[in-house]
Amino acid sequence: MVNNAGLDQGRDIYFTSMAHRLQKYLLQWRARKLCANLDDQIANGDKLLDLGAGDGYVGKQLMSELGADTTLLDINNNNRTDLPLIIYSGKELPFKDREFDSVLISYVLHHTVDPVALLKEAKRVTRNKIIILEDVYKSRFDLWIVTLSDHIMNVFNETKTYGFKREDDWRHIFKSLGLVLVDRKQIRTALDPVCHLRFTLRLHTQIQQEPTA
Ligand SMILES: C[S@@+](CC[C@H](N)C(=O)[O-])C[C@H]1O[C@@H](n2cnc3c(N)ncnc32)[C@H](O)[C@@H]1O
Repeated sequence: MVNNAGLDQGRDIYFTSMAHRLQKYLLQWRARKLCANLDDQIANGDKLLDLGAGDGYVGKQLMSELGADTTLLDINNNNRTDLPLIIYSGKELPFKDREFDSVLISYVLHHTVDPVALLKEAKRVTRNKIIILEDVYKSRFDLWIVTLSDHIMNVFNETKTYGFKREDDWRHIFKSLGLVLVDRKQIRTALDPVCHLRFTLRLHTQIQQEPTA
């Protein structure tokens, strides 16, 4: 009888490493795409908090591509970059008031138990703006699609999903927190049925009118 254990093990290692490399390639490609959608919002030298940094590729890309001075913060350690990651409890942000020029909250709010509390903290630590990337839904069918897509995206990590909202619900929350929506952009990706929105919020604004959907 031939013992194939060594061969099987070699094949497993090969496929695991191929899958790992493919996943890394896709995540870095996504980070480059997101960065291209943020380049009008983040300037060279900006002190930026990447709140809920995940694998860290987006924060790292913003640093290398746009020159942001990025701090990665999360409640879990999924960091795949060489940038330091600060882990915290998910409650109070471990920073002083107005410590950052901007806070980026990229696809995090629907993963938080209390998004309003997180936004209050983001408001406290920023002196300029909060940039939010979030998936929204309009119909029950959209909600089903967005939930399915989120499960697929997070199949390999322990990130829990607590709930998606409609655009108007987010706008209502921003307003109730005294955050002014100064820019709203739909991020389009080929063949992606989910509606991804980018909201830019300021504490004090010169712009009187909120952009319409
Ligand atoms: C879908 S990932 C997004 C990661 C990254 N921002 C990106 O766009 O690639 C959501 C992240 O939010 C983090 N998260 C959930 N609740 C959080 C909280 N209260 N404070 C900070 N991060 C949180 C999760 O640990 C996870 O890393």
